[in-house]
Amino acid sequence: MNFNVKCRRTISDKIGFLKYFSFLKDSKLKFLLAIMAGILYGISSGFCIPVILKFSSEKVFSRADLPFYMLLVVSIAPVVAMTLRATFSIVNSYYLGFCGQKILQGLRVMIFDKIQRLPLEYFKKTEPGALITRSLGDTAILQETIISVSQEVVKQPIALLGAIGALIFLCYKHSNVIILLIFFLAVALVVFPIKAIGKKMREKAMGLQQTTEGITTKLAHNLSAVQEIRAFAMEESEVSFYRSMCDGVMHSVMKSLKYSILVSPLIEVIASIGVGFAMFFSYKTQIQPAVFIALTGALYLSYEPIKKIAELNNRLKSGSASLSRIEDLLNVPEKIYDPVDPVQVDRLIGNITFDNVSFSYGESGKALGDVIANLEHGKTYALVGSSGAGKTTMANLILRFYDVTTGAIQIDGIDIRHMKLKDLRKNISYVPQSPTLINGTMCDNIKWSNPSASFEQVIEASKKAYAHGFILNLENGYDTMVGEGGARLSGGQKQRIAIARAFLRDAPILILDEATSALDANSEREVHIGIENLTKNRTTILISHRFTMMSIVDMVFVLEQGKIVEVGSPKELLGQKNSIYYSLYQKML
Ligand SMILES: Nc1ncnc2c1ncn2[C@@H]1O[C@H](COP(=O)(O)OP(=O)(O)OP(=O)(O)O)[C@@H](O)[C@H]1O
Ligand SMILES: [Mg+2]
Repeated sequence: MNFNVKCRRTISDKIGFLKYFSFLKDSKLKFLLAIMAGILYGISSGFCIPVILKFSSEKVFSRADLPFYMLLVVSIAPVVAMTLRATFSIVNSYYLGFCGQKILQGLRVMIFDKIQRLPLEYFKKTEPGALITRSLGDTAILQETIISVSQEVVKQPIALLGAIGALIFLCYKHSNVIILLIFFLAVALVVFPIKAIGKKMREKAMGLQQTTEGITTKLAHNLSAVQEIRAFAMEESEVSFYRSMCDGVMHSVMKSLKYSILVSPLIEVIASIGVGFAMFFSYKTQIQPAVFIALTGALYLSYEPIKKIAELNNRLKSGSASLSRIEDLLNVPEKIYDPVDPVQVDRLIGNITFDNVSFSYGESGKALGDVIANLEHGKTYALVGSSGAGKTTMANLILRFYDVTTGAIQIDGIDIRHMKLKDLRKNISYVPQSPTLINGTMCDNIKWSNPSASFEQVIEASKKAYAHGFILNLENGYDTMVGEGGARLSGGQKQRIAIARAFLRDAPILILDEATSALDANSEREVHIGIENLTKNRTTILISHRFTMMSIVDMVFVLEQGKIVEVGSPKELLGQKNSIYYSLYQKML
């Protein structure tokens, strides 16, 4: 796993979630409305309520005869204030929640988009479980963070400011500075634990996500090897390993829970000390009941936002841990780019040149060295050689799954790095050894290579690939659901679907990498005719260990340790009894 899992400061810490606000460009009005409502909530909650409280209690405790209208005002004022406060709160929470979801949605698509462009070697080094945890688990944590933060992020700081304003106003009006001092002292006391807990929260959240990633990865492994696990009677050890991983997750959850539940009670205790002092000094200074009610009201309304802000801080810390894990993924450098100024290409003819191509996968040794080859339109070429010789690597380079280390590959005289990736790849039909089927119908699966194809074209392609017969035998023919990953089909049936896809794609370049390896002798004979038809008018690169396929081949390249060591027609090479091709042929008999 190459994710940097250390708890470290990333750009997310410096500018936080702010840069993702660009996802809100279509929702600026909603965002502004939410902020306005939050500010009004804060003012009505923090400032107006203590002031109304003071005004009302002064009237109620004045013992003077109140005119009826004043009694009405005194009774209705809190209702009006609370109704307005509730309305502002609803508007603020709803629209900020909307904006939060909008950002999250943008981020999810951004991650998925990034996965489409990650270098292929990344997938060889990273477990799918790790990518799933980041795409779903970390975004779910961000979702929780965004929902809870959006409800409080504007309201609480403004409410706190409003309450401090009311406190200052009331203290000034009644020359009572002591309560104000008590309040500020208590605030200073709570800041340190809040900061320390927040820091711990981020660490613990990071650890929790790592352990969660571990169990997702384990689950994905287990699911991909169900048959082997049963065959080797590994069920018990799998369960006990999974149990120990779940214990790890529980341990991590409890660690972060310990810190998250600490913050509110701690503030409440410190606040109660403040209230205790306020009582003490109120008695000593013989404060009037109305002023006392208003001051303690304002005091309470100041601690409440502090408590909420502290909880918010915890949420933000665990959200920022997830965000920094997501950013680790988003910041993985991409290796295969579209050129800045691409050469315009439509349908290529398909003349391929390997111009002194060398290539190595990262640190490992050369997979291809000084390969020179010319492949002409309309001809079929076979890449032959022992396992690990570099056949698939040659195909990978034509598709630009990787870029050559030195030299160049040209098609119709154009360096493939000068074409847009999409333009290059739409000119290639690629049939891999183990094709991937999507969870849809047979028809959907064949159309995958050309979604605009008609049903008639699908049938025609299937007939040519000798897939039509077995598809008709399925319970719903072309409408039969394939099942996840094509689980209901045999290896040979999947390969025939992949060949049908290639027919439907109708590209000038065809690459078949062990595309018939899973077929039995009978089906191979049939598919053989299909492939022969498919190769007409295209440049075909056929990688096969089966010498029966060589009857359709014009020219063979024999590879050994990444180098082309023999070139010639199958007949010529077979005629040379000391050729590598001949010895490979002998071994296959
Ligand atoms: N993703 C990869 N990362 C690192 N090395 C790789 C990778 N893929 C292949 N290689 C190495 O490159 C060399 C050529 O591999 P390649 O897959 O092209 O062989 P091949 O001729 O297609 O073999 P086979 O007949 O077994 O499919 C081998 O030594 C292999 O170990
Ligand atoms: Mg291969």
